[in-house]
Amino acid sequence: MIELRGEKVVLRTMEREHCRTLWEHYELEEPIPTEPVRPGHSIEGSDKWFEEIQEQQGKSQIYLGIFSPDGNLLGDIQLSEIDLRNRTASLGAGIARRRDRGKGYCTDAALVILRFGFEHLDLYRISAVTASNNTGAIRVLEKLGFTQEGCEREAIYWSNRRWDRLLFGILRAEFESRQNTI
Ligand SMILES: CC(C)(COP(=O)(O)OP(=O)(O)OC[C@H]1O[C@@H](n2cnc3c(N)ncnc32)[C@H](O)[C@@H]1OP(=O)(O)O)[C@@H](O)C(=O)NCCC(=O)NCCS
Repeated sequence: MIELRGEKVVLRTMEREHCRTLWEHYELEEPIPTEPVRPGHSIEGSDKWFEEIQEQQGKSQIYLGIFSPDGNLLGDIQLSEIDLRNRTASLGAGIARRRDRGKGYCTDAALVILRFGFEHLDLYRISAVTASNNTGAIRVLEKLGFTQEGCEREAIYWSNRRWDRLLFGILRAEFESRQNTI
């Protein structure tokens, strides 16, 4: 059981029930034309997701729920593709409900898990990927001090359009010099 505390959120290992709740609450910014209206929205789908998390938990990934201090589940965050040979990993996150977005929860959660990755797992670098239309995610990465390192042009098909896939990265030294100013 992992529990990590930030200023606005607490990160904690998710139980099966948490995955079901998040699966149900998750609101896409826009529907994906090639997917059902609520892709995979079923107890079986969320249970499969929970099992997949258990398989890799503590091995190639650390997958945690983002909770408010009074225990409401807001979203999820993960360090995946953990590579202890190269000391690298990849950051991903989501805040389930629109009403909870833009309130600083993801930035705080990411600060906490980046600190865990650099200080506890002794990582050297963490990367992140997002689409060029994801203003919120790009802003979070900029606030955290990530540098945009690459761009796969028009690699993502979303909402009847093509968008660039943006590749970001942050080194441990960059994070350490910045974390107290965020
Ligand atoms: C992207 C996401 C994870 C950001 O989480 P969040 O808790 O809303 O992020 P924060 O509140 O910490 O910071 C968001 C920043 O982007 C800005 N922003 C701009 N457009 C935004 C939007 N559509 N939604 C949320 N924030 C937005 C906010 O104002 C804020 O900047 P500020 O602090 O300078 O005002 C969340 O919006 C989300 O889950 N979206 C849908 C799923 C998704 O895109 N996941 C990430 C895939 S890479």
